[in-house]
Amino acid sequence: MNKSFLWGGAVAANQYEGGYQEGHKGLSVTDVMSAGDVDHPREISYEILDDKYYPNHYGIDFYHHYKEDIKLFAEMGFKCFRLSISWPRIYPQGDELEPNEEGLEYYDHVFDECLKYGIEPIVTLSHFEMPLYLAKKYGGWRNRQLITFFERYAITCFKRYSKKVKYWMTFNEINNLIDTDNPFNAWTGAGVLYEDNENIEQTMYQISHYQFVASARAVQRAKEINASMQVGCMLHFGPIYPSSCNPQDILAGIKAMDKRYFFSDVHVRGYYPTYTLKKWERSNIQLDITDEDLKDLKRGTVDYIGFSYYKSTIAEYDKIQDFIEVQNPLLKKSDWGWAIDPTGLRIILNEVYERYQKPMFIVENGFGAYDKLENGIINDDYRIDYLRNHISEMKKAIELDGVEVMGYTPWSAIDIVSASTGELAKRYGFIYVDLDDQAKGSGRRYRKASFEWYKRVISSNGEIL
Ligand code: BG6
Repeated sequence: MNKSFLWGGAVAANQYEGGYQEGHKGLSVTDVMSAGDVDHPREISYEILDDKYYPNHYGIDFYHHYKEDIKLFAEMGFKCFRLSISWPRIYPQGDELEPNEEGLEYYDHVFDECLKYGIEPIVTLSHFEMPLYLAKKYGGWRNRQLITFFERYAITCFKRYSKKVKYWMTFNEINNLIDTDNPFNAWTGAGVLYEDNENIEQTMYQISHYQFVASARAVQRAKEINASMQVGCMLHFGPIYPSSCNPQDILAGIKAMDKRYFFSDVHVRGYYPTYTLKKWERSNIQLDITDEDLKDLKRGTVDYIGFSYYKSTIAEYDKIQDFIEVQNPLLKKSDWGWAIDPTGLRIILNEVYERYQKPMFIVENGFGAYDKLENGIINDDYRIDYLRNHISEMKKAIELDGVEVMGYTPWSAIDIVSASTGELAKRYGFIYVDLDDQAKGSGRRYRKASFEWYKRVISSNGEIL
């Protein structure tokens, strides 16, 4: 493994910071998402309701614990730490002309604390936490004006942290938008709740277009501010296998992957793929796309491909839709039903790298599980197994297949609130946080068994797994 390989861990502001009203932060879209669990989806409203509990308000209170937590990351030997900036901490409403100085100062402190230990911050600009005001007043990313607001926010961050942050990403898991059935995706990704009477598919492509342009403009501004900054995209990837060797199922697998690749194709190549243009033609999808937008897409292609990998799925031919996704009978699953497939990581690394020949960065990979704290000890062998097997496949992709991988930041550096369910009990971290789903508990941090294990992995640069 290359000596400069970026080993670290990842989190997102909305899931761990807390301090949701401190330092003049505005509300974000996740501040109005109630708690759920594996059987009950989180509820979304435009306001905070008195009879609901909102787990993201407190997170794990990193806002007040950042020194202690970063010290623990340093103890593990992190070379980098992936975090996101909460947009409404910097622009509380989102449409202001001037940023909130207190918010900017807070991230100065966090980045300085990382740099003190030689930890490189890897920063996502929008990770499920856009200002709620933009969703309410402007209809979220349905509105072209959002491009201007995002560009202003990006410029503010690039200028302010130009000497502290080299690696950036624009929109977390932008391709979640394609799954319009689950309201979580358009809400967290774009501040949009689809209306019954709208052409949802058309709106989804319009939102995506505005975000592509915003991302491409951010890439250009970053280069103008500091040419050495690297700006990547962030995709939710995982192979979708055909359910059989029947050619119709093979085609179903390709069509299913195209729905995910559509987003990286635009980010990386700077133009729309033909399979999408044909689809728009067939479905009579009419979009607001200007010539200037198309030039921006070309000028603002990304430097690297950040992605999350948790699981693979299967596509089966279907007469009405091109395909349906089904369960893989050969794979074991987590308690939340996520299929465990380490080889899938090697497969997706190969496929994406061969498609684009751009450096890849695994910015999320991890195992959500119920952990038990007993006499101050957490034996999370299942997590160690999961990570060991995935790292081993990543190494094969690098060493045997020649895939260029910049780094690996497992989800999550420390226990945080789950995005999909809002539980704290769905733990991913190397560090146990003594809080329950209602944020009750001491809040004390404990090193899990995986903490010591990962520390050895990093110090041996991936030799000892
Ligand atoms: C990714 C997100 O989809 O998966 C993270 O980028 C999220 O924000 C992670 O936390 C794991 O999902 P969950 O729902 O188990 O927290």
